[in-house]
Amino acid sequence: MSEHVRVMLTEEEVDAKIQEIGERITRDYAGKQVHLVCVLKGGSFFMCELAKRIQLPVSLDFMSVSSYGSDTKSSGVVKIVKDLDEPLAGKDVIVIEDIVDSGRTLSYLLQILQSRGPKSLALCTLLDKPDRRVIDVKVDYTGFEIPDEFVVGYGLDYDQRYRNLPYIGVVEFD
Ligand code: IMP
Ligand code: MG
Repeated sequence: MSEHVRVMLTEEEVDAKIQEIGERITRDYAGKQVHLVCVLKGGSFFMCELAKRIQLPVSLDFMSVSSYGSDTKSSGVVKIVKDLDEPLAGKDVIVIEDIVDSGRTLSYLLQILQSRGPKSLALCTLLDKPDRRVIDVKVDYTGFEIPDEFVVGYGLDYDQRYRNLPYIGVVEFD
């Protein structure tokens, strides 16, 4: 069985949206330093592109949580695989995610991060699949709302592949 990727959002569309979010964050956090927390691995491409478009002092940290195996359904089991290096106390934190799907990962993660005493805590995601939501999470910055399809590219993987695609696509099997 062979597979190909159907483009859902082009590189140009994604770039333009990231520029727009960068400008919004720059306005919303004027006069402050923002601390971006990237949720690995999927959020990494988005965070790097976004960070370059925020015209403010920016610091970065990374964490990794797992809720997915190699299949395409959420297990509902979430664990911290890699924790942050820096404390969050007193910082204006923005969590950078690739996608909010069921919301399980984020709702768990945001509770943990909130308990560490940041001055503020916001959530920024490149993609949102609202139809799939099981647990409500408040998203402050959304790139695109997309239909319930399994997408890859721009950090998102299918069995660890396709993260490096510069666009968002859907894997189709021929
Ligand atoms: P949630 O806990 O169900 O919201 O799952 C969030 C995580 O599941 C994301 O950070 C992704 O790693 C993964 N995920 C959800 N939907 C997709 C998809 O369409 N493509 C690739 N990964 C996905
Ligand atoms: Mg993720």
